[in-house]
Amino acid sequence: MEVIIRPNADAAANLTANVIADAIRAKPSLVLGLATGRTMERLYKRLAEIHQEDKLSFAQVRTFNLDEYIGLPPEDKHSYRHYMNQHLFNKVDIDPANTHLPNGVAEDIDQECAHYEQRITECGGIDLQILGIGNTGHIGFNEPLSAMYSRTRAKALTPQTIEQNASQFDNPEEMPRRAITMGVGTILDAKRCILLATGKTKAQIIAKAVEGPVTSMISATALQLHPKATVIIDQPASANLQQIEYYQWLFQNEPEWEPYR
Ligand code: F6R
Repeated sequence: MEVIIRPNADAAANLTANVIADAIRAKPSLVLGLATGRTMERLYKRLAEIHQEDKLSFAQVRTFNLDEYIGLPPEDKHSYRHYMNQHLFNKVDIDPANTHLPNGVAEDIDQECAHYEQRITECGGIDLQILGIGNTGHIGFNEPLSAMYSRTRAKALTPQTIEQNASQFDNPEEMPRRAITMGVGTILDAKRCILLATGKTKAQIIAKAVEGPVTSMISATALQLHPKATVIIDQPASANLQQIEYYQWLFQNEPEWEPYR
């Protein structure tokens, strides 16, 4: 795992967008894993700008989102499908047929989860998976005690996650209590993972995820087991880390980051 600290949330999102853009330029048919949430809004805004300004084409890109609420149809304004259309898909030249989210209103949820895994495999696996982190340490909706080998499945949300996300609903009571999420094992199968986190409310969980022991109580610690995982954070989110000086040195000196400095 490597940690990159940028001065503020815009700089962290811009760096993540630039890495994604370069991955698409290197492989126009990139299989891109995507996340939703407040943190990602800056990232998608920047990707849409790069599409406009630098003519980055998403025409062949294939996407797989991490999760979807169970019980919300795609047209529901609180669904993650709606979020993705609004923040990214409608703003770039992606083919809607190439965008995948679990179907939260599938009749047979287990079958839908198995199909989702199958579709990822048919596309050759995820090349680059973008992740956020919740206050429980979840990646996707892999709440505490999610197995490290877990695959796409239905997961009950914790009270903390419900509290974190309920404010997005007109009536907080309407927030679904369950979601379909890629498993920790599904995420670890991606060829590269980037976790983006910003703001001081994420400082505590980032320190646990990055420098704490690997535990299924904090799913994000699984990324410590991944051969190519990068955590991109802003300064406020880095506040509780012990090795800040080393992480800062990495970005300034490692050849891989030279084009992004
Ligand atoms: C949602 C997802 C979640 C969020 C996390 C952070 O698709 O994958 O793990 O990334 O809950 O959400 P925000 O950015 O709203 O703090």
